[in-house]
Amino acid sequence: MTVHILEADNIDFRYIDGTKALKNLSMQIPWGKKIAVVGKNGAGKTTLFLHFNGVNRPEKGRILLKGRALEYGTRSLKELRKTVGIVFQDPDNQLFSASVYQDVSFGPLNLGWPEDRVRAKVAEALEKTGTWALRDKPVHFLSQGQKKRVAIAGVLAMEPEVILLDEPTSSLDPFYSGQIMALLDEFNQGGATVMISSHNIDEVFAWADYVFVMNDGQAIAQGHPQDVLSDEAALMRANLFKPWVLEMYQGMLAAGMIPPQPVVPRTREQIIGLLGQFGKEQTIIGIRVQEVNNYEF
Ligand SMILES: Nc1ncnc2c1ncn2[C@@H]1O[C@H](COP(=O)(O)OP(=O)(O)O)[C@@H](O)[C@H]1O
Ligand SMILES: [Mg+2]
Repeated sequence: MTVHILEADNIDFRYIDGTKALKNLSMQIPWGKKIAVVGKNGAGKTTLFLHFNGVNRPEKGRILLKGRALEYGTRSLKELRKTVGIVFQDPDNQLFSASVYQDVSFGPLNLGWPEDRVRAKVAEALEKTGTWALRDKPVHFLSQGQKKRVAIAGVLAMEPEVILLDEPTSSLDPFYSGQIMALLDEFNQGGATVMISSHNIDEVFAWADYVFVMNDGQAIAQGHPQDVLSDEAALMRANLFKPWVLEMYQGMLAAGMIPPQPVVPRTREQIIGLLGQFGKEQTIIGIRVQEVNNYEF
């Protein structure tokens, strides 16, 4: 088994109007991880995601799935789409059935699963995305955030090995954003590779195992979130800021408030926990203890 479930190998892509959206882009997607692609508007994130699902075909270079180059025949694309599910940035491009239930059932029915399996998976996906109560609603009456959750349910119900989500939380309120990210965690723990694009750097820092920064059709940085999201030069080129949790952690370290931690805090809860543990009083006591040690021994 190759270590990369998906790979872009030196791809170029140009839209019909001549816009060169991807430029000699290479990207290797690690198997079974939670991956985030960040970058400013127009960086090429959506164009890339559509390559990984076979919607876009590179002008030059190759897309590989599990080490094998994609061919663009009907059978190859069908196989790809069974393995790689995509949730589009705009749910209006995804949903087309009369009712929510029909929409979420469409994919699993198309996979030829027995009816009881389809029913069970659809019910589970609706439950998990908080859309069960909406199941009989016409899709066009839903709010943007509800549509997004239904689109996610439709892809989850097919249980793909890889799920690509193009800005999954961009139209969701904080409650549902948190729920969706937790759901993606659960899906990943079940063995799936989950890849999102996002502008929400704090969410990415808290969630991702591996991050790519895209700019102008290329990947300009990649690696573990604490390394990549500390790279101010790369972040500036991508119009992004450091995650606030990281900024605060580094500030606390620089001020001598806390000792370096074995694991860098990534969430609000973790940094608040550190603040509680090394509040002002304890730090002063900590320094005094240190001084006493230095003087006496
Ligand atoms: N259908 C299209 N026709 C022409 N240009 C496009 C089209 N879609 C995107 N682009 C252009 O391709 C570049 C990359 O866009 P996109 O992949 O949507 O970036 P992102 O998702 O990072 O915001 C941008 O310059 C954008 O204007
Ligand atoms: Mg986009």
